[in-house]
Order: sequence, then C-alpha cells, then structure tokens
Amino acid sequence: MTKLKIAGSSIIVLAICCMSCSSGKKITETPTSLREAFKNDFLIGTALDSQQIEEPDPRAAALIPLQFNAITPENSMKSEKIHPQWDKYNFDLADKLVAYGKKHDIKINAHALIWHSQLPAFVRKMRDADSVKQFFTNHINTVAGRYDGKVFSWDVVNEALNEDGSMRKSIFLEKLGSDFVTQAFALAQQASPNSELYYNDYNIEQPKKRAGAIALIKKIQAAGVRIDGVGIQGHWKAYNIPLDDIEKSILEFSALGIKVMFTELDLGVLPHPGDIQGADVNQRAAAAPAMNPYVNGLPDSMQAKITRGYEDLFKLFLKHKDKVSRITFWGVNDSQSWLNDWPIRGRTNYPLIFDRDFKPKPAYYKVIALKQGK
Ligand code: G3I
Repeated sequence: MTKLKIAGSSIIVLAICCMSCSSGKKITETPTSLREAFKNDFLIGTALDSQQIEEPDPRAAALIPLQFNAITPENSMKSEKIHPQWDKYNFDLADKLVAYGKKHDIKINAHALIWHSQLPAFVRKMRDADSVKQFFTNHINTVAGRYDGKVFSWDVVNEALNEDGSMRKSIFLEKLGSDFVTQAFALAQQASPNSELYYNDYNIEQPKKRAGAIALIKKIQAAGVRIDGVGIQGHWKAYNIPLDDIEKSILEFSALGIKVMFTELDLGVLPHPGDIQGADVNQRAAAAPAMNPYVNGLPDSMQAKITRGYEDLFKLFLKHKDKVSRITFWGVNDSQSWLNDWPIRGRTNYPLIFDRDFKPKPAYYKVIALKQGK
C-alpha cells in the first residue's frame, strides 16, 4: 500500500493484485487523481477565481494541476470584470488564467461572453438598441478574438431561458430581439474560429426548459451557425438529484450532434426558502439560524447523501461517456463555493468534492473507485 501526499492530505493508493498476481505480476492500482482516473472518459474541470489563479495558497496551487485538466474562470471573464467601461477592457486576470492553463496543460473553458447578469454599469444604463448592438458586437469581437485558440472553448451565451423554456426577459432580448443568441454565436464563430462554442444554462435537464434549449440550439443550427456543445450547469441538491431527467437530457442533446457537458456541478445540502431552485443569482432570501444548520459540521447522514449523489452521477456520466465530454465542479473546495452565499449570505455549505482543508471527501473516493482496476 502506497501513500501519496496531495495538498497536505494523504491519499491511499491501493495496489490490488489480480488472481494471477503471484505469478503473472499483473497489478492494477486505484487512480491517483480525478484527471488521471477519467482521462479516457471526459475532462474533469473546476472553477477558479483570483484567489486560485494568482496562486497565493500553496495547497490549492498543488491540488489544482494534479486533480483537474479543465478550468472555467468563475468571474474573471464576465463582462462586468473584463469590459468595465465602453472603451476599457481589463484582461489582467483572464490573461493570467490562460497562462496558468498553458503552464499546467489544462484546457480553459472561457465563461461567459453574453449573459444578462453581471453586466458592466455602462451597459445597464443603455436605453437605445443601437448602443446595445454596438456593445454586443464590440464585446464579442474583442474578447473572443483576443483568446481565439488560446482557450479551448467559450460559453457564448449563458442562461437565456426561463424555467418554462421561453426566452428570458433581458436587455439583449428587449433591444436585439430573440435572434440575439444566434447572432452571438455567429459573431463568436467569426472572432474565434479555433475555439469550441457552447450554450450554457441551469435546470435545462428539466423537461420544459430542456425543450426550450433544444429549440434554441436547433435555431442556431438551422441558421448555419456553429454550436459545438451544451453545458448543463448541475446546481443540484444532494438529496434530490433528477437522475432520470439528466439521462434524458444527455440523450436528447447529443442527438442534436453536439457535445454534452456538466459545467458547474455542485450538490448543496442547505435548505432553500420558498420555491428557490436553480441558480438565479438575483434571487435572495433573509438569513435565519434554522436555514444554516451545519455551521459546526456535517452529520454523517448528510455526508452520505453527498457521497451517494456524486457516485450516482458519475455512474451515469460513465455510462454515457461517448456523449459527455467534460464534468466541471463549480469551485475547488467547500470554502470557495458560491453556495455559502446564495440565496442567503454567510452560510456553511458542503457542495464540492474537497473539504475546507482541501482534503478529499468520501465522495472523492467513491467516484475514483468507479475506475478502480479499469
Ligand atoms: O469583485 C467584487 C468586489 O470588488 C466587491 O468588493 C465584492 C462585494 O460583494 O463583490 C465582488 O464581486 C462578487 C463576484 O462574485 C466576485 O467575487 C459579486 O458580488 C458576486 O455576486 C459574484 O458572485 C458570482 C456570481 O456568479 C455572479 O457573477 C459567483 O462568485 C459565481 O460563482 C457565480 O457563478 C454563476 C455562473 O457564472 C453562472 N451560473 C450560475 C453560477 C452560480 O451563481
């Protein structure tokens, strides 16, 4: 039995002898990392923000390149950050991320060119359609153009749909009309011919929203515009994962001839007030102690739900590995997760596969064990 040091914690690598071991010496080992375990199946990604990109924490700096071979910038390529003023772009952090990916042989999925949320203030103030159109065109040309081929892929349009599958009300829908999604892909295709182009959204595994996403993708394809894949975000509750709908979504989206990815995976355990579900960052609720029950630690029963949830999901992903090209966790460890602050600020959630000390959680071992000896 060997022990590998990963980010200050030990991972036990079991050397398993086959039946013929004593004579034939055929040894199979438990894979040593997520990226190694699934290297023949799909990419394994994480989301990074400035606190990891600039590598101030040696534990994160050691763990990320070992475990992951895909990165999505959690915030640094959103228009509010990268294009803060009409004629001013801030590429510093995004450039660092691209360099980080190159250094560690990690693919970058850039996120997100056109999103109704986190828009720069100057866009939020726009009233006439011409200004919005000009921003839309300049933004895609400049940002997608700069990173053409330097990033593996782009989330070209993010979250354009309502829960019932209709188009979400946004400044883009209002000023540019419902063709804005196709137009965004057409511009991205021109500006970034060497990067893959994706549509990304949450809850699109749900039947009505899925139908809306399929219609949207068919519309892009019918216009002769390139779309390479769809990202199902995967912000689910550990105790309520819609496995049947997820499987149907893999099959129906891949039938469109595009890649299917799970792009922002996390399994929250905290209650949400009212009917809040999904990932609409504008939904907010008031704090209350009953809504933050695991400040001092997670009960075993809840840990087991997270473990089971990740195991069930990865079994499904492996079953459809010919259709699923990437699984990205939305953050590296539990302390980084946006779910500590949404929809209620300042809570203690446990949605990822590494804990607050960067230690692999039981879910990590279960997921890795699916590949044991293969
Ligand atoms: O950068 C500012 C900082 O200058 C300021 O002092 C601070 C004060 O609150 O805010 C900082 O901005 C925050 C930003 O994250 C960067 O940390 C915003 O308030 C905060 O709202 C923002 O949250 C992000 C959220 O998207 C909105 O952009 C989360 O980190 C990020 O995980 C989340 O990610 C989204 C995906 O992009 C799309 N799908 C849903 C997913 C979860 O909401």
